[in-house]
Amino acid sequence: MSSKFDKIIDYAVRKGFFWQSYEIYGGQAGFYDLGSLGVLLKSNIIELWREFFVKQHQEFVVEIETPIIAPAIVFKASGHEENFTDYAVECLQCHRTFRADHLVEERLGISAEGLKAEQIEEVIRKNDIRCPVCGGPLGNVYRFLLLFQTYIGPYSPSNLAYLRPEAAQGMFINFKRVYELMKRRLPFGIAQIGKVARNEISPRQGLIRLREFTIMEIEFFYDESNPTCDLLYENCSDEYINILRAEDRAKGIDKPLPISVSEAVDEKIILSPWLAYWMCIAKKFVNALGVPNNKTYFEEKLPSERAHYSKQTFDQIVIVERWGKLEVSGHAYRHTYDLERHIEFSRADLYAIRQLKAPKIIRRSVVKYDKNAVISFFGTKAPQVFKVLASLGSEALAKIVAESKGDSVVVEGIEIPKTIFRVEDVEEKVWVEKIIPHVAEPSFGAERLLYIVLEYAYSEDGGKVIMKFPKRVAPIKVGVTPLVDREPLEGIAHRLFKELKRHYYAMYLEGDSIGKKYAQADELGIPFVVTVDYESPSKGDVTIRDRDTKKQIRVPIDGVVKVIDAGLKGVDIFSLGYPIIERVEDKE
Ligand code: ATP
Ligand code: GLY
Repeated sequence: MSSKFDKIIDYAVRKGFFWQSYEIYGGQAGFYDLGSLGVLLKSNIIELWREFFVKQHQEFVVEIETPIIAPAIVFKASGHEENFTDYAVECLQCHRTFRADHLVEERLGISAEGLKAEQIEEVIRKNDIRCPVCGGPLGNVYRFLLLFQTYIGPYSPSNLAYLRPEAAQGMFINFKRVYELMKRRLPFGIAQIGKVARNEISPRQGLIRLREFTIMEIEFFYDESNPTCDLLYENCSDEYINILRAEDRAKGIDKPLPISVSEAVDEKIILSPWLAYWMCIAKKFVNALGVPNNKTYFEEKLPSERAHYSKQTFDQIVIVERWGKLEVSGHAYRHTYDLERHIEFSRADLYAIRQLKAPKIIRRSVVKYDKNAVISFFGTKAPQVFKVLASLGSEALAKIVAESKGDSVVVEGIEIPKTIFRVEDVEEKVWVEKIIPHVAEPSFGAERLLYIVLEYAYSEDGGKVIMKFPKRVAPIKVGVTPLVDREPLEGIAHRLFKELKRHYYAMYLEGDSIGKKYAQADELGIPFVVTVDYESPSKGDVTIRDRDTKKQIRVPIDGVVKVIDAGLKGVDIFSLGYPIIERVEDKE
């Protein structure tokens, strides 16, 4: 009896959701092609993400698109060139390379995340962990850079470039532009959906660990002195999320505990209110993909497990049959790290302006000089002295005067008596100051979500597969079929199919019997099937069958689209007042 995972993969490949890339050349690990159903499912997942994260927040979250390839300086500044590494170990016999921490985890069932190379090496030696393929001895553990390298234009070391491993840097680089477009108001978010590449070491988990995948991210910028997030109370006050805290994990506790999102912020369990807000939205989003709340939680990373830019990170975990748990999104409090680094490396002004509630008093010294005294002391040379003094500016002059010893001040080779200068302290009121905004980042991998949706939709009934996709993400929304493949039912069904295609991805179902057609629709997770039956030609109506209850309603042909629309939006079609039919379906 194969596992649920094997059945899902078998199903997905058989029905054309996805398969290994470059199959005719033996396949290439870490790359997957999507077939037509996979493309539809993935784009529906992306669209739902867009709705939850961007559309519902459109007045302050905007989406941009930036290139996949970036000059090396970008990832030097971001710290990835130095830090974006995993531990690799090579078999000394067959020379295959493996991810060292994963080998330890697989063999010993303990987490090796956050261990140093020497520590992993020691665990490997002590436990005599050997090559999982040939049983040979393993070499030294070393850090392997996960960035894919390339060159922009003809080869030259100065043209070194990397493929982005996250979409985030494109958003940090564009911070100032979007800030201006948002009329310089904080908080705001930049969203981006796009392909990223990571040169993962020996990926062996299909769609879960890819070398090229689609990421959906938001960099959310806010003023740390005013982190209030009213939305947290508006949209999430009654929401509970399950959290497994780092301090509990360190004690060996592995059971997450439910806590209200606002309480998690008030008690500083989640350090950034905006991180908490997006975690709440992430929970709702994953629920909408078919994962119930008791199957998902947030695992706080230990400091040693966090990426270099993060002050606090939570991985959103979904329980899966194969590995127990699977990370579907990461929530990192990136604070000021990235903007600060880009300011340092590019010298660009990536600051925001904070309006102060009360003016700040700035005290500084200014230097004044007695013009008449200059004229009487320098005579005809006076204009030249005025020119030199004016070119310096008050602050620079104040510094020179303060630092000069003796009775005179030397300015650009001219000796001026100190008595000519008068140093005064002045106070100035300023209403703004420059700040580097703090950043909270939710980051999702689309392909892992695609797998999750398949696993949570998969069910069997009497040996037949039924994919209970949430209606919003179902690849095909509606099936249409004649009860028997004969005229005049067929003609009506074809006309209806033509109409339905204008609105949805629809499928014309063919088969020996209506039972088989319904089974075919269930297997593809089609939420509704419209059937033209013997009564249709005379009455001008059809039946609409609901995948999950198998019940049907009779609806006039010109009302079909309205009913399907409502049903796809989550309205119970049996509450719309149409006659309900319960048919016992044959099971062949
Ligand atoms: P992991 O620990 O599994 O390597 P990560 O912590 O490096 O993941 P992040 O950098 O937080 O992952 O990336 C954000 C999201 O991108 C992850 O939550 C996951 O959904 C997805 N993701 C990361 N790496 C891969 C990959 N190799 N293949 C597919 N999806 C991935
Ligand atoms: N966001 C993924 C990383 O850069 O670590």
